[in-house]
Formats: sequence, C-alpha cells, structure tokens
Amino acid sequence: SNQFNYINNQLHAEDVSLSDIAAVHETPCYVYSRAALTEGFREFSDALQGREHLICYAVKANANLAILNVFARLGAGFDIVSGGELQRVLAAGGDARKVVFSGVGKTRAEMRLALDAGILCFNVESAAELDRLNEVAGSMGKIAAISLRVNPDVDAKTHPYISTGLKQNKFGVAYTEAVALYRKASGLKNLRITGMDCHIGSQLTETSPFIAAIEKILLLVDELASEGIALEHLDLGGGLGICYDDETPPAIGEYIAALLGALQGRTQKLILEPGRVLVGNAGVLLTRVEYIKPGEEKNFAIVDAAMNDLMRPALYDAYHGILPVVREAHAVQSYEVVGPICETGDFIGHARELAIAPHSLLAVMSAGAYGMSMSSNYNTRPRAAEVMVDGTAVHLVRERETVPQLFSGEKTLA
Ligand code: LLP
Repeated sequence: SNQFNYINNQLHAEDVSLSDIAAVHETPCYVYSRAALTEGFREFSDALQGREHLICYAVKANANLAILNVFARLGAGFDIVSGGELQRVLAAGGDARKVVFSGVGKTRAEMRLALDAGILCFNVESAAELDRLNEVAGSMGKIAAISLRVNPDVDAKTHPYISTGLKQNKFGVAYTEAVALYRKASGLKNLRITGMDCHIGSQLTETSPFIAAIEKILLLVDELASEGIALEHLDLGGGLGICYDDETPPAIGEYIAALLGALQGRTQKLILEPGRVLVGNAGVLLTRVEYIKPGEEKNFAIVDAAMNDLMRPALYDAYHGILPVVREAHAVQSYEVVGPICETGDFIGHARELAIAPHSLLAVMSAGAYGMSMSSNYNTRPRAAEVMVDGTAVHLVRERETVPQLFSGEKTLA
C-alpha cells in the first residue's frame, strides 16, 4: 500500500507531515517509510511461503544503513556489487552467509574481502573471473562457492541503459558458452559450483521476459545435470518494475506466482535480487521552490534539489511524479521543475501542472530507488539528508553532508 498520502491537504509519510520533516531537517531531504519497506519485503516472503528461498535485496538501489538494517531484521540476504557494499551490509547487521556478489569487475581485494567474510556465493561473469577467483581462494586456503551469471539473450523490453540480458550487453557469460564454462569451473579445485544466476534488466513491467529467461536457464540446468553437475540454487536476479507514472507492472505476488509456475518440479533453492520494487515507492525526495521564473516559452520552478540528488530524469529521461506537500490555493500553471545546477539536463520534471509559489515544498515521488545511491557532489553540492519515518517517529538516518567534508581529502600544492 502507499505510505505517502494527503491528510488535511498535507502530504504525509505514514503519520508524519512532510512539512514538519522539512522544518526540522531542511531540504533537499530523502524521506523513507519503514512500513513501506516492510510491506514490500513481506509480500515477497509471503508469496514464497513453503518454497526454500532467499531474498537478496540489491544494495545498489539504496545503500543507506538503516534501510539495509530494516531488511536484515526481516531476514533478507543481500546482492552486492562491490567491497564497499559488503562493508555496508556488515555494518548494518547483515549476515555475510546470505550475501551474493554480482558484477563484471570484481577485484582481487574485493574477492578476498568476500571470502574472508564468508559470503554465500559469487555470481561469476566471465572465464577470466573464474580463474582469478580460483587463484585468490587458493591463496587463502578457501573454497569459493560460485554461480555463473548466464546471459539468456532475452529482451527485457525496458530502457536500453538498464537492459542487461541481451547478447550485446557486457553482463554474464554467453548462453552458448555456459556449459563449457561450468565444466571448466568443475575442474578448478578452489571453486565449488552451487548455482546458476541470471538478471535480464530493470524496471520490467511484464512477466513474460522473466519466464522466457527461466525457460532458457532450465535447459542449461538439465544439460549440466546430465553431466553430473547438480545445482543447489537458482538465482533469478531482480528487475521487477514499479509504477512511476502509468506503468502497470505485475504485483509482487503475481510475479512470484509466474516464476514458481515456470519452476514447477524444480527443487533448487530460489534466490531473488530485487532492488527497485522494495525501495522505489518507499521514498520521496523533499525539495523547496527557491524561485519561480516566468519565461518567454516556459515557466520554471527552480527548486533546491538537482540532478546531483536525483539523476534519473537527466540520465534516462525518467519520469517522477511531483506533488505539492501542501495543497495551496495558488494559480495552477505548467512548470519546468529544474535544479540550480549549470546544465540544461538538470531537470526533475517537464511541463508539470502545479499550484505553487516561492517557498512551496514539493515531493518528488518514487525516489527511494536509485536516487540517493546515484547521487553525486557535482557543483560542490553536499548530499541530501535522509530520514526514515516509522509511524509517528522520524529518524535522521544520514546527516546532510557539509562542504568541509566534501574537500577534506584534498590538498593544495606545497
Ligand atoms: N541484480 C543485478 C545483478 C543487478 O544488476 C540489478 C540492477 C539488480 C539485481 C536489481 O535490479 P532491480 O530489482 O532494482 O531492477 N540506475 C537504474 C537501474 C540500474 C539497475 C542496475 N542493476 C535506474 O535508475 O533505473
């Protein structure tokens, strides 16, 4: 359910008005709802009742420690793509034995860190990575558990920048080479084959590409079984989309039912790596109108959040809803909602009908996923504060950065 609703013309996160949050924590500020995070996770675990499974939240979607901690307490595992994400998971109380490590460029140092922590599985993306991991594990006297991330060559029908399961993408091992690579892995003494992995893209709004991928993956699983290579788990990645505007993605329960249908008769433990669907609509970006600038062709609402805070509109031309925090009686006009950064691409939304004035607060919706985690310090802008609402309580879960922090590691020439 939606945890961001109007009560007496004031937009709330759970039981707290966003105006009150802005008054205390200022803007720009990300606001997350603990209830929304919890509900999403429970939808997954309820739908998977009775099936051996592990829900590995994709940390890259939002890596705030409080978010990781909420999921860890619910029993989540984590999908990481760097040593840094592993350290966040551990700092947030996550269990290393529930961590899968994806990514095409794992360094030796990252492999050592993950082997030391005792993660569940490396999702290996190339032949060279198999050799490197075998060597690193050998040097530590350890055995690394692995899956191969197989590229099933299916079209996820999503934005090309976030589509990953096509032949031309850099991700995973080619479908036609997968069996040979499993054979190779089975001959490397510091590796133990435990599963197969695939992830075809993000913000998918239909189940059919997932099903197409599963069907292709299962053919490989059977071929391996006939060669005596048995798998303990199947990792089907993440990718389930959310509604930003008028998309109609399947509900979590429907998506799981479709996956389980395609997996009938299979006994392997099921691993999933959802990111966006768990956090996207559990967060908003709160921002204040600094100026209203009428133009010859367009009116601009210049707000205090920018592309460094939320990069998705600039990078993917992504749509995010923009709502007034207080429903006020101003004239409704069409605005280009833009930030203060010196780039034409610095926009949050185009042609939005809004009843606002200088100092009005706006909520940029569906900003919980790939918002803060993709933020930067461009234009020497300190990163936004982050708060988590839990019922009537408001927790500051990340302080706003200060400018001295931004250049504390820099030095002028002696
Ligand atoms: N597993 C792997 C291996 C991934 O690469 C990803 C996302 C996920 C899981 C989680 O996917 P999700 O459930 O969140 O769709 N920055 C883009 C999205 C990039 C997704 C990258 N990989 C955006 O803002 O739309």
